[in-house]
Amino acid sequence: MALTFDDGPNAQTSRLLGILADRGVKATFFMVGQSVASNPAIARAAADAGHQLGNHTWRHPDLTTLDAAGVRDQLASTENAIEEATGIVPTIQRPPYGAWDETVKSVSGDLGLSLILWDVDTLDWQHRDPAKTLEIVKANTHRGSIVLMHDIHSTSVDAVNDVISYLQGEGHTLVTVDQLMGGSTSPGSVYYSGR
Ligand code: NI
Repeated sequence: MALTFDDGPNAQTSRLLGILADRGVKATFFMVGQSVASNPAIARAAADAGHQLGNHTWRHPDLTTLDAAGVRDQLASTENAIEEATGIVPTIQRPPYGAWDETVKSVSGDLGLSLILWDVDTLDWQHRDPAKTLEIVKANTHRGSIVLMHDIHSTSVDAVNDVISYLQGEGHTLVTVDQLMGGSTSPGSVYYSGR
């Protein structure tokens, strides 16, 4: 299964990278373009550590409220920022709020991006409670799951050690989205899990 972290990078991302390094776990980070532009060294550290980077738009709008040109601008500017910071061009995007429509799919496909949603929502941004995050992971995670968390909140990062211990104890191998999908996501397609 895959742990995914949205809305960074910021200082909490750096702390999370330390925890993941200690545990020998690779994860996937869906980064906001304007935050990559502000914190390029953190984005680069995540890439250099072997984590997968994904596109989470420039300023986190609901993409279904934009026309095709607006969607393209949000995604293309973020591709550029991530490439500039890390040398890597993401092949996956996560639409903010999980909101997508045919226009979002089509523009994403044109840009070589598949849409990666999730099947386990920890709601970490809402309750800000590490114990609750772990409880939701325990109740909902299966083989092939994609777990949604946010690396901009300290309480989310606080949950990660226990989440990893639980999942590994259950026999799960924690991998990047690309590894979960066997490297075979196709641009413009939508995925909720590796099953
Ligand atoms: Ni987000």
